[in-house]
Amino acid sequence: MPPYTLALLPGDGIGRDVMIEAEKVLDVIESKSPLRFNRNVIPCGGKHYLETGEEWPQGSFEFCRDEADAILLGAIGWPNAMTDEGDLAGGQVILGLRSGLDLYANVRPIRLYEGVRHKIHGEFNQVWDSDSVDMVIIRENTEGLYHSLLRRSADKAQGRAPSEPEAIQFPGLEGEIAWDPRPISRVGSERVIRFAFNLAKRRNGAPADGATRVTCVDKSNVTRGCQLFRKIFHEIAEKNSEISVNSAYIDAFTMWLVRNPEEFDVVVTPNMFGDIATDLASVLQGGMGLAASANIGDTHAMFEPVHGSAPKYSGQNKTNPIAMISSVGMMLDWLGETKGDADCSQVANLLETAVAHTISNGNILTYDLGGSSGTTEVGDAICTHLTKLLKEHYAVA
Ligand code: IPM
Ligand code: MN
Repeated sequence: MPPYTLALLPGDGIGRDVMIEAEKVLDVIESKSPLRFNRNVIPCGGKHYLETGEEWPQGSFEFCRDEADAILLGAIGWPNAMTDEGDLAGGQVILGLRSGLDLYANVRPIRLYEGVRHKIHGEFNQVWDSDSVDMVIIRENTEGLYHSLLRRSADKAQGRAPSEPEAIQFPGLEGEIAWDPRPISRVGSERVIRFAFNLAKRRNGAPADGATRVTCVDKSNVTRGCQLFRKIFHEIAEKNSEISVNSAYIDAFTMWLVRNPEEFDVVVTPNMFGDIATDLASVLQGGMGLAASANIGDTHAMFEPVHGSAPKYSGQNKTNPIAMISSVGMMLDWLGETKGDADCSQVANLLETAVAHTISNGNILTYDLGGSSGTTEVGDAICTHLTKLLKEHYAVA
């Protein structure tokens, strides 16, 4: 296979710290497997905006669209970094790519590794056993309540004139009004719900009963958009009658998610609900330090930890790099599947094993998992184990 071209977008804060660990993992893979990468590190984000007046260098969107086989993002967000238009500086990067490359499925796996201790009550506890949490939340990623900002970010990333939706007048809605319409379309819903069903077919079912299940989470008792989303969910469910389905309103879902995580296999939900529910769900797997994600479209994909830029922790060698390293794993998995590259799939599996080993071993972990090691040490531990696994697999001395 020719080398894969990667766009590496460290972004802000701890995004930069964990990107260093991701690059270490890529170094190990290159030295011990047939995989090769052309890496293009693109400076970007809110801090970059404050320093240079631009969210990323001109041509970056086009590079991601036309040259990169995959995109890896650290995190976006820096204190007081707002564009002249009053939007999140760096939005062009994260939201411009999600919208501009039509990355409609935001895939957020929530799986509890063996040995992880929770901090649900403020103390470290073993609340669930590791086989009770294994679900994937699929968050719609290109419309819903993010529509206005996604559209402003995509317009900007691609150099188009901004196109604002108009506010409506209504008695009682007076004075200064800020307006975020929440469009949900048939096309946008169909593709992400189909994605959820197709993913469910490749998984092992819900931990509670082994049933392959897709759960629709919405607020269809209140909003028209969610009614459409739920209607389309049932249409697609009918065509996949071998898969068991259920549905929940987002408010009740947050309760069930915490109380009975073992009942969920694949969950599909509109954009903002997915944003909120996945931060909550990360606690089930040991916190944001472990939460990896993929933004997937039909032709492009971007991979990133779910956590933000956490400016106050940046540069302190504190952050857990596992969410980012597992995002690299998701990237290799996706490349393996879409390019038909068995080495990518194999290396993704070995990386997953190295992560699981480091966690269950328990000696080298960051503070969020009850350990006292730094970002670098955890990255090194994973790299050391990965090196061993790759050597065994490829029999390289
Ligand atoms: C996420 C983040 C982003 C979002 C922010 C940084 C715009 O919270 O990926 O979940 O809201 O989608
Ligand atoms: Mn979020």
